[in-house]
Formats: sequence, C-alpha cells, structure tokens
Amino acid sequence: MTPYVADPVYLNGRFLPLADAAISPLDRGFLYGDGVYEVIPVYSRTPFRIDEHLKRLQATLDGIQLANPLTAAEWKTVVLKLIETAPWGDQSIYLQVTRGADDKRDHAFPPASVPPTAFAFASPLVTPPAEIRASGVAAITVPDLRWSRCDLKVVSLLANVLARQQAVAQGCAEALLIRDGFLKEGAASNIFIVQNGVLIAPPKTHLMLPGITYDVILELAEHHRQPFAVREIGEAELRAADEVWMTSSTKEILAITTLDGKPVGTGKPGPCAARMWQWYQDFKNTVMRKG
Ligand code: PDD
Repeated sequence: MTPYVADPVYLNGRFLPLADAAISPLDRGFLYGDGVYEVIPVYSRTPFRIDEHLKRLQATLDGIQLANPLTAAEWKTVVLKLIETAPWGDQSIYLQVTRGADDKRDHAFPPASVPPTAFAFASPLVTPPAEIRASGVAAITVPDLRWSRCDLKVVSLLANVLARQQAVAQGCAEALLIRDGFLKEGAASNIFIVQNGVLIAPPKTHLMLPGITYDVILELAEHHRQPFAVREIGEAELRAADEVWMTSSTKEILAITTLDGKPVGTGKPGPCAARMWQWYQDFKNTVMRKG
C-alpha cells in the first residue's frame, strides 16, 4: 500500500494489491484519455451522495457512448468493500472506466468484444485544514482552453492539468477558467461569487462540470434562505466580487482571497463562505456521522 492508495484496489471484477493491478499499455485510457471518472467523498466510512455520483458517472458514460460495465448496485458493492478495507474513516473513492485495450491503435471505437477497463481505489480524504480555511487561498485566471463538453467527467484532463500547474507554479491553489469573457469554473472545482450578500453561481451548461458539491451548496442556500442567483458571471464582475469560493468533493468550500495578485473583497474569507462552510459541516454531520 502507498500512503495514498489503500490495498486492495478494484480492477475488472477483482480486488487485489495495487502492486499487482496491471493494465495493457494499449488501454485507450492510456493512449487517448478515452475514459471517465468519479471522485466520491466518504465521511466516517459513509459515502456522500453516492447515488448522485453514480448518476453523473452514467451520464458521462452515455455522453461518450461507453456501456457501464457495472450496475449502480454493483458499483455500490465495490465502493463499500473499498471503504470497509481502507484504514481511514474519511476517504475519497476514485472510480475510472476506460474503453479498454484493443490489439491495435485506432481512433475509432474498438469492437464490442473489447471489454472496458474498470478501476477503483480508496485514498484518505484530506480536506483543507483550519489554518488554510482561515487565510483562504490564492488563485489566478487563465483562458479556458478545454473542449466544449466540459459537463462530462472524462479523464482527458490535459487542459485542466496545465491550468492547475500554471497556478501552482505561481504559488496559487487554483486556476479560474475564463471563456468568452465569462467565468466557467476552476481547473478542478466549481466557483461561486458573492456580491452584496447574494451568492451567484454560473449555470450548468456544456462548458462546466455539474458539481455534486455545487448542488449541495445551492440546496443549502435555499434551505437557509441565503439569497442566490444562477447566471453567467462576467470577468469584471468576478474581479469586483466581495467573495469568491472554490468548491469540490475534496476541497468542500474554500475561500479564494487573492485573485491574480489582488485581494478579493477585504482579502480575508468573507462571512458568507464561513456560514456556508458551517452549514455544509452541519449537513454532513447529520447525514453522515449520526450514530
Ligand atoms: N474534481 N469542476 C471540475 C473541472 C472538477 O474537476 C471538479 C471536481 C468539480 C467539482 O465537482 P464535485 O463537487 O462533484 O467534486 C468541478 C475532482 C474532485 C477531481 O478531479 O479530483
């Protein structure tokens, strides 16, 4: 076991040590990035919103015309077994399905006889520590160079990788992707802004991943009567925002306090982010950690 991946992992119907899990170099995930993935957070050994994650997995598989090798019930069995055998209470479960390995390299789909590759493993869930939440993080903006099906959670993530690396190279935590003058999302997160007490989220279109955390945040906003709007956010509006947050299954809700070297609002995490973070924790604790 590595410190980050629990043994056993799941590969094509078997549970086995990571060191013994092998796939062909002709796998289309490797050759073309032809595959899909999911990341499911687990709190106290209970997966969070697993049905929604499995639904998004199915939607992405449908979007790339790849049959799901497992039913939702079978995926749940795999996930629960990984959770049970991993040494941590809070985990992040990674699922991946690729279009498998043919005996040659050809862009078009392989024959139906080529089975998909299904892989899954558990990692420790490391959410941002209190000191990072207290200071917030720095981010940059970059042009969104991705394709036009960003609603699909596919493993071809090169544009996201390059954007995130550009941020990291400048000592920042995230890159915010701007397309045609509008904020879409982060390299690996959704982005919200707050202006005059109103939470604003970009709409779910083909140009943004429909985050599971994004949905939870809008549900919590509605439940707690936090005013919110779902609409496009222009670049100028982003730069003038009182608060900017990044959200994801692993980061939860994290304030961005510096954007392109300039302070966001007061330069400190704002009150809306703090409230939403607490609502998120309370929600998690009632749903996940009871008993
Ligand atoms: N990424 N947008 C992008 C491009 C993402 O990669 C992610 C998550 C999100 C947030 O989605 P969710 O709330 O369902 O985690 C938005 C995961 C964590 C990853 O790639 O590791």
